[in-house]
Amino acid sequence: DHIKLMEVDGELYPNVGGEEQAKGIRALAEAKARPDDIVLCNYPKSGCHWMWEVINMILQGSATTIPDFKENHMIEFIPPNHMEAIPSPRVLNTHMKFSQLPRETIEKRCKIVLILRNPKDVAVSFYHHHFGIAKLYQYEGKWENYLSLFNNGKVDWGSFYNYVHSWEKTIHDNPTHPIHVLYYEDMKADSAAEVRRLANFMGVSLSDDLIEAIAEKCSFHNMVNDKMGLEDEKWRKVWRDEKPRMYRKGEVGDWKNWFTVAQNEEFDRIYAERMANSKLKFRFTL
Ligand code: A3P
Repeated sequence: DHIKLMEVDGELYPNVGGEEQAKGIRALAEAKARPDDIVLCNYPKSGCHWMWEVINMILQGSATTIPDFKENHMIEFIPPNHMEAIPSPRVLNTHMKFSQLPRETIEKRCKIVLILRNPKDVAVSFYHHHFGIAKLYQYEGKWENYLSLFNNGKVDWGSFYNYVHSWEKTIHDNPTHPIHVLYYEDMKADSAAEVRRLANFMGVSLSDDLIEAIAEKCSFHNMVNDKMGLEDEKWRKVWRDEKPRMYRKGEVGDWKNWFTVAQNEEFDRIYAERMANSKLKFRFTL
């Protein structure tokens, strides 16, 4: 089983734009940042579409669907001139690590929102992404064999464990950089509380009613209805059957429907080993 990927300077990416994209990735470090940029960071499949929508609604101060798509604001995929053309305040998003962000993002102390999600649900979601959602991976593998690809980081943006370790170190080493950490599971458990925390971090004051309304408007089923079909032509070509299926199930604990007992034991063993020195606490169920 093999997932078709592109390697740029030792890191793995989906091959969305070939050489042009590789050039863009190499140029990213020099991209211009603005002090009011918000940079949404996450390992793939951790809830980026969801939180991009929420953050934009907080900024616009109303619970109305954003008539744009987070893919158009993903800094490792959009050409530098597109990034420049986005009006402020920009909600950029990326799967890059802190050290790979534009240098100015760090110098200008842009706010960073980091989403974390438990790796069992991430693995299941990523499997569906590789197998069923995007055709550019040309992946026809079976779930039985997928976990070893995931655990060994043979996927785009590499190992989940390396990703979370790098951010944990970033937070430790950069205590004054504004980084807001948010768990997918907490968003599911109490969306309004997390929207409120996020708005506070962003320095936006919203009424309780509006906070509730944003949480509700961005709930899985509402978002599926509102956002499906908004994707532009370029991205439609990437999705299998030309249908955007980014919105799959949106639950905590779907991994239980996929992991066998043996897979779960093996995963727990690797998790314990890889997370031994981490203070991060992932929840695998609600
Ligand atoms: P599942 O495959 O488990 O359903 P990302 O946006 O980072 O690519 O993450 C995709 C995951 O977030 C998918 O998980 C998707 O269904 C889920 N998701 C998307 N919108 C959501 C929402 N409004 N509420 C909850 N989960 C959502």
